[in-house]
Amino acid sequence: MSKKAAAKSSPKKAAKTAPKAASNSKSLMTESRVFKPSAEFSKKARISSMAQYKKMHEESIKHPDKFFGREAKELHWTKPFTKVLDWKCPNAKWFIGGKLNVSENCLDRHLDGPRKSKAALIWEGEPGEKRVLTYQQLHREVCRFANVLKRHKVKKGDRVIIYMPMIPEAAIAMLACTRIGAMHSVIFGGFSAESIKDRVLDCGAKIIITADGGYRRGAVVPLKKNVDDALKGKDTPVETVVVYKRTGQDVHIEEGRDVWWHRELEYVDARCAPVAMDSESPLFILYTSGSTGKPKGILHTTGGYLLHAQMTCKYVFDLRDDDVYWCTADIGWVTGHTYMVYGPLALGATSLMFEGAPNWPENDRFWKIIEEYAVTVFYTAPTAIRAFMKWGDEWLKKHDLSSLRLLGTVGEPINPEAWMWYHNKVGGGKCPIVDTWWQTETGGHMITPIPGATPTTPGTATLPFFGVDAAIVDDLGKEVGVNEQGKLVIRKPWPSMLRGIWGDKKRYQDAYWSDFKGWYFAGDGARRDKQGNFWIIGRIDDVLNVAGHRLGTAEVESALVSHPAVAEAAVVGRPDEMKGQGVVCFVTVKEGIKSSRELGEELKKHVRKVIGPVATPDEVRFAAALPKTRSGKIMRRLLKQIAAGELIKGDTTTLEDINVIAQLAAGGED
Ligand code: WTA
Repeated sequence: MSKKAAAKSSPKKAAKTAPKAASNSKSLMTESRVFKPSAEFSKKARISSMAQYKKMHEESIKHPDKFFGREAKELHWTKPFTKVLDWKCPNAKWFIGGKLNVSENCLDRHLDGPRKSKAALIWEGEPGEKRVLTYQQLHREVCRFANVLKRHKVKKGDRVIIYMPMIPEAAIAMLACTRIGAMHSVIFGGFSAESIKDRVLDCGAKIIITADGGYRRGAVVPLKKNVDDALKGKDTPVETVVVYKRTGQDVHIEEGRDVWWHRELEYVDARCAPVAMDSESPLFILYTSGSTGKPKGILHTTGGYLLHAQMTCKYVFDLRDDDVYWCTADIGWVTGHTYMVYGPLALGATSLMFEGAPNWPENDRFWKIIEEYAVTVFYTAPTAIRAFMKWGDEWLKKHDLSSLRLLGTVGEPINPEAWMWYHNKVGGGKCPIVDTWWQTETGGHMITPIPGATPTTPGTATLPFFGVDAAIVDDLGKEVGVNEQGKLVIRKPWPSMLRGIWGDKKRYQDAYWSDFKGWYFAGDGARRDKQGNFWIIGRIDDVLNVAGHRLGTAEVESALVSHPAVAEAAVVGRPDEMKGQGVVCFVTVKEGIKSSRELGEELKKHVRKVIGPVATPDEVRFAAALPKTRSGKIMRRLLKQIAAGELIKGDTTTLEDINVIAQLAAGGED
């Protein structure tokens, strides 16, 4: 976007509270500033008015066959579909009879025109290496690696685990799977050996793609070693481990099982025809936390997912051929899947990928990258924005960020103060912000502004995307009134919805479709304001959101009780200024064991080892007992208040032993 086009949008209404002084929850209730997209932005946008948005949204809800039938024609179908939707709750089938291949849509179809030599991926490594892969080059690498997979007998429907650093080969491996119809399951590099083992066993993967190591804040993450530990002494279905040489450190190579990526490429050529897949063929499994100790393998399928990924990149990011688009999420999360790889590539855009941390070697690494590559669309998480604010504006001031034209956030509610800082300091007051609410399960954006049309207010994700019939209801399923809090439900199927939990039909039904018959509910509370905007309050189930990462309290609890000293554990979140939520563990130790500061530290390390660094507790508190109801249920509500340092509110009459509360509030047994 030219600098001329940088007309400032201005608040229509003054804030009722000064954002600086407001705490997150308070300011989320009182915030009322409205920012309209500038005329310059709207004029060029694909959707340029609320009237246009409303008309399209109405059609998408009332006539989904027509709306999605038309939109889906923008994908390349090897065989056209004959019916748009078949819905028997909770099972949806989209684009019935249609066949397509995801890698063909993301690569081959761009090779016939000028996009052939356009950058598909721009990559920067943490130590500073730079690589650009054009569509032509990426296509070639994907075909070659798909042939490596075939060489190792990977077939249609097989599961492939990808545990890699943020390097182009991670995307290449994913696309190569889709080319031959294998399913991938990417595991975030911050997960431990035990987490890998659980996932390998759950999905029955016969092959793992990894690297010797990856860089993170100057240190090396021992990826291959974690894989070795995961496979040690266990009867696993894994027959092959392909290792990409990233850091060059020494690694163990298990004869007969482990092969080097670069060696394998010597045996294959670059011709690999894409396999035409049914629209409903499984595409990938991505594990995410739920309210039990066992992560859920969320299953996505082919046609609907790809359409939604492409469509949201088109309408929400309004991506163009001349955009340089950067999504800072890790490829191991759903955001990395949909908005670093599949969506932008399906649309033929340029996607930037960065391996490292925002503060390495210094706090301006992100701004440096934006300046160097003239990034135009930037998508990041509120937790990162709050960290940037803390580090101070001087880091930004060193760089020219005027290339930016659109900003996005995802992962947790954004507090108005962070929103305003993002708008003014990063976007120079000229860029619309799309605050996108969605989940691993939804595959892509669900509630989001349309940047050329929707008036935004800091803290609200605004309005539903096309095909999304969202509502806020009470426990009986009745819609609540204006500004009343309730449960966020989706009342109609949408193309990129999850199709199941791997290997667990019943859990799929119970977890998402049982609270309200026929409607999807995945655990968030929300309210709607007078204008109809949705304000997401956060999870109301036992799932935490720590720095934008989902973490089940039950997962952390089960890690804690796997330690020989622990008798019982309860884990809750407590508000955290930077991370959104912090992890607080209440622990009772076994008879004869003495609680101590050292044991607390050991338990933190233990959780880190079992789940991974993402789950490291902020605090471990010991108590002789946990507060329980007479029927033996742990009273989490009380623990949350204690963890937040609040006075105990509400009813404690069902509590078995009131002394427990006094002890915990006083800081535990220690
Ligand atoms: C939260 C990440 C408020 C929410 C894409 C949801 C948000 C969970 C937003 C899903 C947002 C995500 N505003 N909350 N814009 N985006 N969330 O599966 O609680 O890792 O249920 O998917 O993140 O997390 P997940």
